[in-house]
Amino acid sequence: MLNPCTYIIFGATGNLARTKLIPALFRLEMDNRLSEQTSILAIGRREWNTDFWYQEVRQILIDKFGTIDESLYQRFQEKCFYFKGDLSNEMMYQQLHNFIIEKNLSQNIAFYLSIRPAEFSFVVQHLSDSNLFDESQGWRRIVIEKPFGYDLESARALQSRLMKCLREDQIYRIDHYLGKSTVRNLLVFRFANLLMEPLWNRNYIEYVQITHSEKKGVGSRADYYDGAGALRDMIQSHLLQLLTLVAMEAPVSMEAESLRDEKVKVLKSIRKITPNAVHAQAFRAQYKAGMIDNEKVNGYLQEEKVPSNSVTETYAAMKVFIDNWRWAGVPFYLRTGKRLAENRSLISIAFKTPPQQFFKSNQFQQMQPNWILLGIQPEECLRIEMTSKEPGLDMNVRQISLDAGLRKENEITHDAYEDLLLDVIKGDRSLFLRYDEVEYAWKIVEPILNVWATERDYIATYPAGSWGAEESRRIFEKETHFWRHSLEPI
Ligand code: BG6
Repeated sequence: MLNPCTYIIFGATGNLARTKLIPALFRLEMDNRLSEQTSILAIGRREWNTDFWYQEVRQILIDKFGTIDESLYQRFQEKCFYFKGDLSNEMMYQQLHNFIIEKNLSQNIAFYLSIRPAEFSFVVQHLSDSNLFDESQGWRRIVIEKPFGYDLESARALQSRLMKCLREDQIYRIDHYLGKSTVRNLLVFRFANLLMEPLWNRNYIEYVQITHSEKKGVGSRADYYDGAGALRDMIQSHLLQLLTLVAMEAPVSMEAESLRDEKVKVLKSIRKITPNAVHAQAFRAQYKAGMIDNEKVNGYLQEEKVPSNSVTETYAAMKVFIDNWRWAGVPFYLRTGKRLAENRSLISIAFKTPPQQFFKSNQFQQMQPNWILLGIQPEECLRIEMTSKEPGLDMNVRQISLDAGLRKENEITHDAYEDLLLDVIKGDRSLFLRYDEVEYAWKIVEPILNVWATERDYIATYPAGSWGAEESRRIFEKETHFWRHSLEPI
């Protein structure tokens, strides 16, 4: 069990805390990962007292898990506190400090900022002014949700404000994709097995695709989303992070700094997209009305709080090249979209075809290449697709899939937040972003954002429930490249 700690959640009554953070902390309690003196202090604006917060917490857990074990819940409840506080009130921070002392809470403190990005620097400044970052009694860490800035300039401004109050090693910039189990496994798959290494380069790999698709629409998040769009929301953060893990060299060690050094090297090697290459390398579209699960759904422009002339993209795809020895010439395609046909996050790696096509079924058809598929969600899996002979007298071939399933049937799944919240207590920053990663990621997408920002008259559309607009194919380097949607062998 780890040292005690006080998790202070700002924005505890918001959506992220309800759907992810509180359930993840409960699961950690269930796994006996939280020491007895650990506390979870919720800060919210609402006039609630601790008893009311207990009822809320119970409801959050019931909504998430159905039923809960009563004795486990009692244990968890003893760790929970509620502190009513208005973030904009400067006095609140000193009162919070006093509250921590009064209740004798652990002086190892993790502040989780599940609040609007615009409030980050203000809150950090006041925590600092109230001596809440003073480490003389215990460690102080801060967890920041994305988006870290809105573009390069605002990310730099935010960073310089944070650096006035904190050291870099106290800042945990969370990207929950790095806590997903297949993503963690990607490091093991690549660096604990020698088998793949000789093949993991431009000599054998034709292209790499990273997909995140969702059936969900923008829902009630238009306030944020309409100003962000899919490229900022998913590609600048989660998908570029996945790309770094696929493409990086073996780090010197699995220590945070070594790992992050290698990730940064990948981001630095990505070829800059010039303004006139934007159309060849990036594509955006917006969903219109359509059918999801046999139900009619609205188009983006009909969603609540979306301006009727919005050209915000709900689908974005881009092609990048990594100009280094391992990857020169291999396109990496990244795409994401809301209101697509399926919920799926998938890394698909297409190998080159063999130099001679001995076993193709007719003169028009090409043999299928090998694929490696890393399913992140909903299935967590690792599959290798190969060509094999069909049983029978004829020399027919078919694709088979070697399934190195990540999870046996009785093994339980952990949400990404469980792992990451635990890493904060352990002080393990390897799966959190260092500032230079964020900065390089902004540099990669910024030329696209700039061009799109000037094109206010038109955006391609796709029907909700489809796989996006056909025109996205224009970013493919070759006619033979295609979007891989599913885990089923081709
Ligand atoms: C968030 C984005 O970071 O990730 C959302 O802001 C997106 O728009 C979500 O839906 C996807 O995460 P997950 O874990 O549901 O795949």
